[in-house]
Amino acid sequence: MPKFFITTAIDYPSSRPHLGHAYEKICADVIARYKRLNGFDVHFSTGTDEHGMKIQRCAAKAGKTPRQFVDGMVVHFKELCRELNISYDDFIRTTEPRHIKVAQEIFRRIHEKGEIYKSQYEGLYCVECETYYLRKDLKDDKCPVHGKEPEMVREESYFFRMGKYQQKLIEHIKKNPDFIRPESKRNEILSRLKEPLKDLSVTRTSFDWGIKVPMDGKHIQYVWMDALINYLSTVGWPGPESRKFWPADVHLIGKDIVWHHTVIWGSILMSAGVELPRTVFVHGFVNIKGEKMSKSTGTVVDPLRLVAKYSADPLRYFLISEIPFGEDGDFSEDSLVTRNNSELADILGNLVNRVLTFVYNKCDRKVPEPSDYDSLDEKLVHNMKSCTDEAGKLMDNLQLQEALDRIMMLAKSGNEYFQTKEPWKGESANCLYLGANLIRSLAILMEPFIPGSAEKMWQFLNLPGSVHRQKWESAGGPGVKPGHTIKKPEPLFRKFKD
Ligand code: MSP
Repeated sequence: MPKFFITTAIDYPSSRPHLGHAYEKICADVIARYKRLNGFDVHFSTGTDEHGMKIQRCAAKAGKTPRQFVDGMVVHFKELCRELNISYDDFIRTTEPRHIKVAQEIFRRIHEKGEIYKSQYEGLYCVECETYYLRKDLKDDKCPVHGKEPEMVREESYFFRMGKYQQKLIEHIKKNPDFIRPESKRNEILSRLKEPLKDLSVTRTSFDWGIKVPMDGKHIQYVWMDALINYLSTVGWPGPESRKFWPADVHLIGKDIVWHHTVIWGSILMSAGVELPRTVFVHGFVNIKGEKMSKSTGTVVDPLRLVAKYSADPLRYFLISEIPFGEDGDFSEDSLVTRNNSELADILGNLVNRVLTFVYNKCDRKVPEPSDYDSLDEKLVHNMKSCTDEAGKLMDNLQLQEALDRIMMLAKSGNEYFQTKEPWKGESANCLYLGANLIRSLAILMEPFIPGSAEKMWQFLNLPGSVHRQKWESAGGPGVKPGHTIKKPEPLFRKFKD
């Protein structure tokens, strides 16, 4: 069985999850589910990044120990996954012993190789992104990501000889065009790598909420020197079982942490003698009216509130159909409602309802026996096959939005077909037989995007097993036999007021 290993970034549980966290998990889930339908043995990991100064400070502010604080916060991240139907195989927390061991092992190996040395760190640090900055990289003296003034940090620190890997990294990026996607991000990193690459401070002493450095208990590992390693911990590295899934096929991340995942992570892996991931795919940001969500302006969107109001599938569908994968996009409840009403309900829900209600009421619940196909029937049969192939190719290339578009075009053509065939006028067998089969195909093709509704479609059709256990390819042909009895369909989507 071929394998596929996909990860999301692990979130800082410094506050409750926001819509950006939800977006990343949904995109990864769509890909993981698609791969499973294609017969891959999938490992899909997500989790939380629980150490570091930011967490320590948030905990203190809340009057809790860091441990109590993260334990309380992680509940919401897990709840988010559950509510959104995120089919992760592992939720990894960096405070778990299994991860601490691996993070220390990587540190030890690099140290043993002579690529970690002790020195003095003096420089600027943004606690919000847990990242060191050079003055020239600031925007008006402020962190370019968070707009906050970084702090001056001066302490003894161990350094990783990252600079040594500059040339090797450039070569790797050039030789492997899929290592950083989309291309614009690859070019950005290549251009930043034209400047001399500095060694990286990888330990801290001024606070203690972190993983102890194996050879010096006074120091803790820099939070990125801890968090990135989760991708190895989740597959049981360095145990032999890790060979099944490593290297990761896709690290899915947002655009603010590309440097960390390509340059820092790439050089750590090179130094430790571990293969690099195949693809770091960078998605865009979910914005509000073109602006970044921000606590100070009160524009942070709570995804759990949205799920409670609209349910998971309309939100999943909206985010994938609205935002080009790899670019920024805007969220608004108005556009979510519009897409829900005019696409999910009016196109997909309507098709399912029309066809299945007709079969249920007018054909004694049984799918009719078809006779010779006319040209409209042939066209629909052909469309089911070509949609399955084309959407599959788009998905293989991680073009989620385009794939979903293509599938919705099939649903739309199904409605037109039904309308033109006018089964209520008499001749209805081919139309209903093909209609039922079209719904089966759409259930499979839509499963990665709207898994809950796809399963309902499967249940209405009264087909055996679950839709997520089917084969993507089988959506290209018929699978509902004449004479098969269906169940009473119910409305698939609710409409919301604009
Ligand atoms: N803890 C680090 C990642 C460590 S991975 C080894 C971190 N955490 S985060 O909570 O700040 O962000 C988690 C993910 O959410 C990142 O990939 C980040 O880019 C993404 N997003 C944060 N805000 C976002 C939006 N507004 N929209 C989409 N994704 C966003 O960074």
